[in-house]
Amino acid sequence: MSDENSSCCNLTVSEPTATRSSAPMWIIVVTLSLLFFGGLYLDSHSGWFDAKVYAPYNSAEKLEVFQPKSGAAAAMARGRGLYEGVCGICHGSDGAGKAGQAPTLAASEWVTASGFNRLAHIPLAGVNGPMKVAGKDWNMAMAAMGAALPDDDLAAVLTYIRTSWGNNASAVSGDDIRKIRAEMGRSPQAYTVEQLKVLPE
Ligand code: HEC
Repeated sequence: MSDENSSCCNLTVSEPTATRSSAPMWIIVVTLSLLFFGGLYLDSHSGWFDAKVYAPYNSAEKLEVFQPKSGAAAAMARGRGLYEGVCGICHGSDGAGKAGQAPTLAASEWVTASGFNRLAHIPLAGVNGPMKVAGKDWNMAMAAMGAALPDDDLAAVLTYIRTSWGNNASAVSGDDIRKIRAEMGRSPQAYTVEQLKVLPE
């Protein structure tokens, strides 16, 4: 090797020397942005490293929301959602009613009665005229706000209002509502309190 070099071209090959020079700016920029975007990615995809969480969820709480629920918990969640969509506008999402709009459902004797027959007639047919609710006098009207709900859904709503906000009455099943609806017949008139009180509780 060295022989050839010297005989042929007389190249002077300088020895490599160790010098110090600063790393190129682009390497620093690329490294820092990899760290930065990698951090962002982990933040939004790692689920805080909770072993239960896989993509596309990014936290254990979010995962919980999408877990299919079964039985009573499912009915309560459904009842709550429907209540808030259909009844809550007037009766309030806290069930406390709204002045000039609708009476309270919390601690209402109509809601917490031991039987739910009269209660079920209210959303199925509507109610109007004078009505005492938890000691307050009302004289308005409510349309058949629950008539369009399927039996199971109305049952879930009634179960929800009978067991929320401190109310502690029994649950209502879809079969109960089916039976009550069948006895009522089609498109009944709104009830007055006198007519409701004739019905079995
Ligand atoms: C548009 C407003 C409105 C909506 C929506 C509404 N209600 Fe009512 N509700 C009223 C009013 C007003 C009264 C009182 C009627 C009266 O004075 O005769 C009432 C009375 C009641 C009562 C008897 C009194 C009491 O507070 O316990 C019950 C039970 C009831 N509603 C349940 C429901 C349910 C269940 C839904 C949803 C399916 C619903 N309401 C949706 C306005 C509404």
